[in-house]
Amino acid sequence: MRNRGRPVAALVSSLALVWSFLALPAAAQAAPPAPAATPPMGFNNWNAFGCDVSERLIKETADVLVSSGLKDAGYQYVNIDDCWSLRERGPDGRLVPDPAKFPGGIAGVADYVHDKGLKLGIYGDAGTKTCAGYPGSLGHEELDAQTWADWGVDYLKYDNCNNQSDGSQEDYIRRYTAMRQALDKTGRVIVYSICEWGTSQPWTWAKGVGHLWRTTGDISDNWASLRSIIRQNAPLAPYAGPGHWNDPDMMEIGNGGMTATEYRTHLSMWAMMAAPLIIGTDLRAASAETLSILGNRALIAIDQDRLGVQGAVVSDGNGLMVLDKPLANGDRAIALYNSTDTLATVSVATGLTGLRPAGAYRLTDVWSGAETQVKSTISAGVPAHGTVVYRVRPLRDPAGVAPAVAVGAELGTVVPGPTGGGTLTTTVTNRGVGAIRDVSVAANVPEGWTATPTPSPERARLATDATLRTTWRLDVPAGTPAGHYPIDITASYRWGPRHRPATTSSQIIATVVTAPEDGRRHLSTISPVTSANATGPVETDQSNGGALENDGNLITIAGHVHQRGLGTTTGSELRYYLGGRCSRLVTDVGVDDEAQGGPATFTVYADDTAAATSGPVAAGEAPKPLTADLTGAAWLRLVADSPTPGTHADWATPILTCGDVPDDSPTLPESQTLFSFESGTDGFTIANPGDGGTVAPSPLFHTQGANGLAVSTPVAGNWFGRTLAAPVDLSGRTMLKFDLKAGDVGTVGEIAVQVGESFTWCQGGLWTWTNPHSSRTVTERFDQISCPVGVTLDRSDIRAVWVFLNTGGEVLIDDIRAE
Ligand code: GLA
Repeated sequence: MRNRGRPVAALVSSLALVWSFLALPAAAQAAPPAPAATPPMGFNNWNAFGCDVSERLIKETADVLVSSGLKDAGYQYVNIDDCWSLRERGPDGRLVPDPAKFPGGIAGVADYVHDKGLKLGIYGDAGTKTCAGYPGSLGHEELDAQTWADWGVDYLKYDNCNNQSDGSQEDYIRRYTAMRQALDKTGRVIVYSICEWGTSQPWTWAKGVGHLWRTTGDISDNWASLRSIIRQNAPLAPYAGPGHWNDPDMMEIGNGGMTATEYRTHLSMWAMMAAPLIIGTDLRAASAETLSILGNRALIAIDQDRLGVQGAVVSDGNGLMVLDKPLANGDRAIALYNSTDTLATVSVATGLTGLRPAGAYRLTDVWSGAETQVKSTISAGVPAHGTVVYRVRPLRDPAGVAPAVAVGAELGTVVPGPTGGGTLTTTVTNRGVGAIRDVSVAANVPEGWTATPTPSPERARLATDATLRTTWRLDVPAGTPAGHYPIDITASYRWGPRHRPATTSSQIIATVVTAPEDGRRHLSTISPVTSANATGPVETDQSNGGALENDGNLITIAGHVHQRGLGTTTGSELRYYLGGRCSRLVTDVGVDDEAQGGPATFTVYADDTAAATSGPVAAGEAPKPLTADLTGAAWLRLVADSPTPGTHADWATPILTCGDVPDDSPTLPESQTLFSFESGTDGFTIANPGDGGTVAPSPLFHTQGANGLAVSTPVAGNWFGRTLAAPVDLSGRTMLKFDLKAGDVGTVGEIAVQVGESFTWCQGGLWTWTNPHSSRTVTERFDQISCPVGVTLDRSDIRAVWVFLNTGGEVLIDDIRAE
């Protein structure tokens, strides 16, 4: 074992550890637990810091894991992600830690982390380069595994960029098994985390190769990403077990892009799915709320339960999912998950779960700690995007435990003013053994609103499984701004022989809709009030793709590519509130080139009147222009139909005009093109000219004008762009975008800018992946682009613009712009 550069103190203390181990009585020297016998728990820097990793960050994080109590709660691994090494291997062929980021080397950090009773993780890649372009381990497996083992590494995350793969499952098995064997050869226990994004269905082959495997693409810190990953990972329950876990990616809890309710769902569902719990936030700056979510011991116990069973999906429909996870002590964890955008009552009959038959069950709410009992249905009002998790066991004597009462509500949209209003329906259901008495319901509406109930919201007695239903008329003052307003519904009642008082509350969010502002707008920037689609969600500024969110291409009809629009499937309806203030919708419609089918018929309704209709449009037909007169209409509806639902039906560049504005006023949001590639390459070069490669204008892909730019390099990934002739002022702009069409093997895209006199390099933390031969708009908000510590991104002084492309053949781009 090599100890290059290890401080003497660390050596002494590790000797002391060995000594104390030898000194233990023989009985305590049982074989160490198998690696990843329960899902690994720890930290990884990628989600919060991207490439900005350093020895200091890792050490400080280790300190906080200890001081915050998270280590005691079970978080053990401190994992370094991409970008820790130099761009070139050393003369001996070994990977070299970047001395600027890791002055003490990886071995030094390992010692530090080990001295805290924690373990160290590293990152490598089963390709020629990592995703960020550092040396990959393909063909260097043994040397790299030995190097990591020599440094004292305990965990390897092994990525899949630049993999030179023919895409076959055999190739994936070969590349990932090569590293398995290399790790075995080192003789060191190293947890092996396979990160190939679910591409080759690793759940079908990776048991016995890795201890965990990613099942999806990269998570990002927003609700759509969380929801989509849960949807993909939940059905894989049968494949997980001790030492072989499904990995739905590292956690985003604390990173700011989701609400506390969503972050609680994140931990709840990860625990129910027996997922690795890898913290992905800056723990040094974490709020008390973040620490308390991450440190929830009841959920950690569910995740880490030694049976190691991933919760099974008991039911899944209308965005509501119930999971059931057996636990070693005979209890079961039951999760009620609500992925819809409004409060929902989620229920499951105990007979459908693995609970053994009993007269009653005790429920312990893992978030509130509250204990209640049910007879035979587990049910709760679950907030939008929320999850209720109960630990459940049979209960012999329910008399002393409060009955579980589910409070639900439904509410359509609410329109301000005397002709508007809304209708609220509330339900109170007693799920406990024994009646509840003196039941009453209150709806606590925002100030100035009124809620008038019919019939009276009271009931003397509510038996087991009986429901009190009340309808309320809501009135909202004229001038109330559009937005989301909470309404608390509280049921008050008495229970048990001693008539003890109790309450149960749920919150529903009222959506107040108002007409769009004056102007000409891309309809895709306005949220529909409701949207229904035959396959997956309606997509914004891309075609429908498939069942997942954000899985389409740029809208393409008979070869015409559109940056803006709505990707639907036939059998869809979108509703927008106009409030009588808009005059016109102008759009193109057609069947998307990505999937044949059709014909499709597109109809624009102004309230109930068909204001424009396309008639049947066949696949391959040129985009058909429609103009609909919307004068006076309260609602706009877009409907796409066909004899065969599921045809990819595009609303291409729909523009809505509201208020009294001239026809030639600019379309909002206005965008500023930085590079159009109309008259050549616009001076684009390759950041590292030594890498070789080409850039050339190309008519093969363009989203404006007639040309885009074709780029390729012999090296897998590269930055393409240029220093600007003069600094550009983008203050007031919120994001950068460009359009991309991938080549044969797909690609990642990313944007970087150089700012200020010193040309400081600032780049976004996350790649956008585009499948082979697909197209999409890569978007990076300025607040997602991070600069080195101490530099703020001065939008008024942009000196250079670069896009990263992992070319793998020819990639086409167009219209780099700010918005
Ligand atoms: C891939 C992985 C991420 C992260 C980055 C690093 O995208 O899936 O989790 O490791 O690479 O470049």
